[in-house]
Order: sequence, then C-alpha cells, then structure tokens
Amino acid sequence: MESAVQHPLLVTGSYGQLGRAVLAEAASRGIPAEGRDLDTLDITDRGAVASWVDAARPRAIVNCAAFTAVDDCEEHEATARAVNSTAVGHLADACNITGSTLIQISTDYVFDGTANRPYREDDPVAPAGAYGRTKLLGEESARTADHHLIIRTAWLYGLGGHHFVGAIRGQIEGGNTRLRVVADQHGSPTFCDDLATAVLDLAAAEVEGVIHAVNTGITSWHGFAAEIVRQLGAEVEVVPVSTDEFPRPAPRPAYSALDTTRLEQMIGRGMPPWQAGLERYLEASCAF
Ligand SMILES: NC(=O)c1ccc[n+]([C@@H]2O[C@H](COP(=O)([O-])OP(=O)(O)OC[C@H]3O[C@@H](n4cnc5c(N)ncnc54)[C@H](OP(=O)(O)O)[C@@H]3O)[C@@H](O)[C@H]2O)c1
Repeated sequence: MESAVQHPLLVTGSYGQLGRAVLAEAASRGIPAEGRDLDTLDITDRGAVASWVDAARPRAIVNCAAFTAVDDCEEHEATARAVNSTAVGHLADACNITGSTLIQISTDYVFDGTANRPYREDDPVAPAGAYGRTKLLGEESARTADHHLIIRTAWLYGLGGHHFVGAIRGQIEGGNTRLRVVADQHGSPTFCDDLATAVLDLAAAEVEGVIHAVNTGITSWHGFAAEIVRQLGAEVEVVPVSTDEFPRPAPRPAYSALDTTRLEQMIGRGMPPWQAGLERYLEASCAF
C-alpha cells in the first residue's frame, strides 16, 4: 500500500483487539492511518460515517468494528444487525463516493460448522446463530462497495482484547490446577498481529473478493488450552470435555477450519503456525 499522506488508511473499531493490531502494523510500515471507535465514530451513524470518509478520502477502510458478543447477539439480533450489517452499508456507500476500498472483517460463523475439511471461500454459507447471520448480511453489505475485500477469520486473540488465551491465563494465575476445556470444536487460533500483517499485505496487493485468513494448523479449544499451559510452563491438568457439558445461548460451529490456499496464492505465503503466533503473543503480552 502507498503511504501517500493524502490517502490514509482508516480503521474502525480501533480499540478492539484487531483494530489496535492493524493500526500498529500500519505505523510500523509508515502508512498514515487514523482509527476511530465508538466514542468518536459510531458506524451506525450514516452521516458521521459519510463526513469522516469524505474528509479523509482514504485509499482503504479496514472495518474492525462489530457487535462481537456472540451470545448477546441471540437476544439483541436487531442491534447486532445494525452494527454488523447496516453500518457496513454506510461504509460501502461512503467508499463508493471517494473510490476507496472497503476491507470488511468477517467470520467462520457464516458456515454451519459441519464440514470435514477446511472451508473454502466459495463453500455454501449457512450460519447457525444470530451473530453469524448478522455477519453474513455484513458481507452482503460490503459487496455493495465497488472495491471490497471480505476477510473471514476465526478464533482471534490479541493485545488488549478479551479472549480465550486471557481467560485460560487468568485461571492459571488464579491458582486453578485443573481446567475442563471443550475438545469437540476445532479451528485455527489466530493472533491479531499475524492477521494485521496479512490484512495490510492483501491491501497492498489490491486483492478483492473473499479470502480466508487464519494462522496455519488446526486444533481444538482443549488443544489450544494445553499449548497455552505448556508455553507458560504451568503445572495444570487440562481435561477434555464435550460441548454438551457447556451449554451456551448461541450455537458454536463444531468445525471452523478455513482453507487459506487463496491467501497463500495472493501474498505468496501462508500465515505462521498457530503455536508460533501464541508464543509471540505471550512474549508481547508480558510486556504489555
Ligand atoms: N474475536 C474473534 O474471535 C473473531 C473471530 C472471527 C471474526 N471476528 C471479526 O473480527 C473483527 C474484529 O474483532 P475483534 O475481536 O477485534 O472485536 P472487538 O475486540 O470486540 O472490537 C470491536 C470494536 O468495535 C467497537 N464497536 C462496537 N460497535 C461499534 C459501533 N457501532 N461503532 C464503532 N465501533 C463499534 C467495539 O466497541 P465496544 O467494545 O465498546 O463495543 C470494539 O472496540 C470483527 O468484525 C469480528 O466480527 C472476530
């Protein structure tokens, strides 16, 4: 991506774990970038979105803002739809006026999770819950931008976020020596810094359409927890349990692995193995 000052990168949801990582990656590349979050830009405010984009005339907008509380979406689907879909339409309309590219972050939850091989970009979508439904509508909204890239990712964790790694570490630091963790859901734990690198590489290559981007390798939440314990050098037993033992308001996909062949073709490499991402996160978060 060019770093011409008159074409900055705009980032929404800039206090979120991915928004922060995208801004940090832009800064490290010398790309002028401006982030906004709810306190300075509510993306459901169509007029505010239009003014912001018109004033900045960005080369691209990375939309990291979302209603991400998966369980709350079940009860508040209309609110989730406003943020995850209608607001994406506002961003797309604004992009069409300035000729900007809309980079929309989407999710494995658009799939039903019943596959037995990693999902490809053109596999049929069938969200099982409200969050996935609203994010799928968000993809449709993003497609109304003349130039758009929809990046589906999964199982994110990053600096400053609330996520699985933090929850497991909190349990360990709280003295829990026996963790019961779901072993029948599979996916690819993905470090936001690695995703941010891929997002800016894809933006630089002006890739459009739909693309899957996750760290390489597949595990279960149980396998992920066991690796966190191992890397932290903790003396903790990780006991495998089934999804049925942890009932939640929203259904979770049993299988969330995403095929990243297109990503590898577009940027010439895949993302690092998930264990390596975890190692760098744990190092960085100790200093954070
Ligand atoms: N987390 C995952 O495991 C995961 C997996 C797959 C895909 N994704 C997608 O990846 C993207 C980034 O996720 P994330 O984990 O970084 O999310 P996050 O940490 O929850 O950050 C989202 C940010 O957006 C803000 N926001 C919410 N409503 C907004 C609005 N109306 N206007 C402006 N900002 C608003 C949130 O503010 P508040 O916190 O104050 O609400 C938060 O700061 C999202 O599109 C998400 O759907 C996430």
